[in-house]
Amino acid sequence: MFAKATAQNLVYRLFDMSPDSFRRDALRLFAAGLKGLNVTVPHKQAAAELVNELTPRAERARAVNTIAFFEDTSLLGDNTDGLGLTADLEKNLGLALADKRVLILGAGGAVRGVLGPLMERDLREVVIANRTPDRARKLAKEFADMGEITGCGFAEVNGPAYDLILNATSASLQGEMPELPAGLVGEESVCYDMAYGRGDTPFTLWAKSLHAARTTLGWGMLVEQAAESFLLWRGIRPDTQPVLQALAQHA
Ligand code: ATR
Repeated sequence: MFAKATAQNLVYRLFDMSPDSFRRDALRLFAAGLKGLNVTVPHKQAAAELVNELTPRAERARAVNTIAFFEDTSLLGDNTDGLGLTADLEKNLGLALADKRVLILGAGGAVRGVLGPLMERDLREVVIANRTPDRARKLAKEFADMGEITGCGFAEVNGPAYDLILNATSASLQGEMPELPAGLVGEESVCYDMAYGRGDTPFTLWAKSLHAARTTLGWGMLVEQAAESFLLWRGIRPDTQPVLQALAQHA
């Protein structure tokens, strides 16, 4: 849809690669003329190691979701996940992030990608809670120069209710919802599941049962990060609204 709307002649298709052969398969595709690649779970960290050069935000995240192949035979790695999330939150959901208290569930590659752009928004506080608390604490330390951020285990998260709760664990994909203390969701809380699929996830069901102001899936983030990738490859940022509307019709 982006290519059609911006009159770009391109083919965008899916490749299924295993971690064992990701590096070899990706390099083979670039050698055969591929101009760009979006990379998703579980290859984002491997992609950061594959490229010759990282954009500052990809370097900060140490995770790459977009690779561009340039004429001088260099591979540039970028990370557009964070911009995708903030664009969806601000533009599509109309949320003002400044001064907000944000709780993030999970401390994996997905969180790594979004922390930089999120923390640039002058949030009041970010808490990362993870099944493996040490991973959350380590990640918080890595981003501590950008603002108030701490890491902990699920049981240690304290209220009062957060303005924004982001689910970035892969628990939803397994149909699970981690156990969390009471009092984290209030009537003003926006609860955002970075996963996308049809209908509710265990996370959005949990948030709804606690009367969150709003629950949403990560479709908007997916489309907005794709638009940023497209911009890197083609120099044009496509309008995301028609794609979002088409997706909403299929939801
Ligand atoms: P991604 O790139 O999607 O972030 P990842 O790096 O494998 O993938 O991270 C997955 C995240 O989901 C981690 O925070 C993981 O917690 P651990 O660090 O303790 O492994 C979390 N996760 C996966 N399954 C989970 C479950 N059943 N309950 C709670 N958290 C889970």
